[in-house]
Amino acid sequence: MIRLLLALLALVLAVPATAQSSPRLSVASPDGSIVLTTGTTGEGRMVYSVTRNGRPLIAESRLGFLFTDALAFDRNVAIAAHERSSADSRWELPWGERRYVRDHHNELAVTFRQQPLAGSRLIPAAREIIVRFRVFDDGIGFRYEFGPGWGTVNIQDELTEFTLASDAAADGTAWWIMGGDWNRYEQTYQRTAIDAVSTAHTPITMRLSDGTHLSIHEAALVDYSGMWLRRAEGLRFRGTLSPSGSGPRVTRAAPFPTPWRTVRIAGNAAGLVESDLELNLNEPNKLGDVSWVVPYKYIGIWWDMHLDNWTWAQGPRHGATTEHTRRYIDFAARHGFRGVLVEGWNMGWDGNWFGTGDEFSFTQATPDFDIEGLAAYARQRGVRLIGHHETGGNIANYEAQLEDAMALYGRLGIDSVKTGYVADAGGVVAGRGENGRLQMEWHDGQAQSRHHLRVVETAARYHIAVNPHEPIKDTGLRRTYPNWVSREAARGMEYNAWGEPGNGVDHEPTLIYTRMLSGPMDYTPGVLSLEGRGGRPMASTLARQLALYLSLYSPIQMAADRIENLERFPRELAFIAAVPTNWEDSRLIDGAVGEYALFRRKDRDSADWYVGGITNGEARSFDIALDFLEPGQRYTATIYRDGPDADYRTAARGQIVIEERVVTSADRLSFRMAPGGGTAIRLTPLRRGRR
Ligand code: NOJ
Repeated sequence: MIRLLLALLALVLAVPATAQSSPRLSVASPDGSIVLTTGTTGEGRMVYSVTRNGRPLIAESRLGFLFTDALAFDRNVAIAAHERSSADSRWELPWGERRYVRDHHNELAVTFRQQPLAGSRLIPAAREIIVRFRVFDDGIGFRYEFGPGWGTVNIQDELTEFTLASDAAADGTAWWIMGGDWNRYEQTYQRTAIDAVSTAHTPITMRLSDGTHLSIHEAALVDYSGMWLRRAEGLRFRGTLSPSGSGPRVTRAAPFPTPWRTVRIAGNAAGLVESDLELNLNEPNKLGDVSWVVPYKYIGIWWDMHLDNWTWAQGPRHGATTEHTRRYIDFAARHGFRGVLVEGWNMGWDGNWFGTGDEFSFTQATPDFDIEGLAAYARQRGVRLIGHHETGGNIANYEAQLEDAMALYGRLGIDSVKTGYVADAGGVVAGRGENGRLQMEWHDGQAQSRHHLRVVETAARYHIAVNPHEPIKDTGLRRTYPNWVSREAARGMEYNAWGEPGNGVDHEPTLIYTRMLSGPMDYTPGVLSLEGRGGRPMASTLARQLALYLSLYSPIQMAADRIENLERFPRELAFIAAVPTNWEDSRLIDGAVGEYALFRRKDRDSADWYVGGITNGEARSFDIALDFLEPGQRYTATIYRDGPDADYRTAARGQIVIEERVVTSADRLSFRMAPGGGTAIRLTPLRRGRR
């Protein structure tokens, strides 16, 4: 009898959670403009929504999980507890677009409890997940936290949704690349209506009809699978995790948090570009003293391979020879470049390495490359070799040699390495399973998120900075691991050598507002000859090549052209040698997504300012106030601008005007960018002032 009563009581207690929505909880941004509200629906599903300036921005959107070995965390959920907190602090970036970052947010941590299912043994005990929401003046972030009671969690997929509120989003525009496509992130960006997006990588950028700019992304992608955004219907997007070759998309031992799901929210393009939302949601620096991570510029035995003049493989056209490298080191020393990248220096390039990579040695140089002698010669000349580890996507082969590979570089004083994962999406060779069969993974799955951090942490022990190509996307982990200095993760300059098509004139102005929102990119500007393979012209003017250093941020920047070409442009080369890669502050003066951008940046190590930017196929005129300069100080403005006839479509693409003017903060500067052009301006105090 008592048992029956208890059973009835349990049933009654279980009902309210399924029959009623729980009370809603809200949290506002410090300035009150953004308000996030969360709770559960009548079926007990977790939901959240967001308003900006009192108007709906994200309509009620679901949260939750599917597992491979347990019932979903979806229905029968209610709020069991919540906690509030606030933070306002300032922290320092060891290198970056700016020195100081303000972290100002309000937090709401909600414990969602799923009751045992009455009459079923499939959810035998209550389960809880904390969802931690943070609301900033420039956006929102939330993550899920699995407590220790969960044991091993095998996630099939997330149920996280982002449903845009229809009125302003219905006529909005999205800039995006396809998630899950074969070429990873190396795609031409699509510009479509928001309701024409299919499955997108993040960050995805959206502009609503009322001018609101959004970027949906994630922060702190650690030991987890990257999130793609699949449009389910209309304006409803669902996060879906990159797949895994081993079944569950994520397997983790609790306790653990997921990455933060983030939405940058701004009233204009500048607000989007200047936001530090994801950096603020990452853990502080875990590496301690990182004075050994130095921003720099570099040249490399590289473009000649992409032009097919030299080869990575051994043979008569081998690029990475001792003789070539000495010439590059001498050039770097002469022109003030710190680094010389040498690709093809090691054994393993001779066969078919694309997507296989099992022949690569990361410690054995080819016989015609004297790595010991060259590393010493470079150091004598104040230059460092930059290491290269192309894996062909075979992380099993790489990880087996990782410690020895980094130890070799550490011993030789090679303090940065470019890594590479050339394989089609889903083609990462992660090892062999128990049955001896290959385990294949995605470039942005959990296995690869673990792998990259393993490389970064191993490199850090040897004081080596890392720059992966064909990487996982950036989610702000440079804050936690400042030796993770740059990466590729988009179509880079190399497509102008051999890409079909090359990078169109819209590509770089689009990158600024999409890919670059995630963090630094090793785009490798500075092809001053403006020519790809067989002399194919690039969609760029000469001034634009200089302007790219001020438009696409990275603490390491390459002058990508072959040195014989760079040498033909002494004045432009001097600009590249001088332009900083570490800024006190960076601001977008003016810009529109996919069309143009104009930045002003203050050097971190001198009193110099720089102004620069690029345009798409349209010519544009600017007239800017110099009121950011120090009042009373006179500056020499050295202006690199498109010549009057310059045009990326004609032989005059190389026409450049370089002129000097003396200006003060009371002056204005006017200049014009040609179609496919750009402008770069260096402002140096006449009598060198202190910063
Ligand atoms: C692709 C990289 O993006 C490129 O920079 C590199 O030269 C090749 N892979 C070979 O590693």
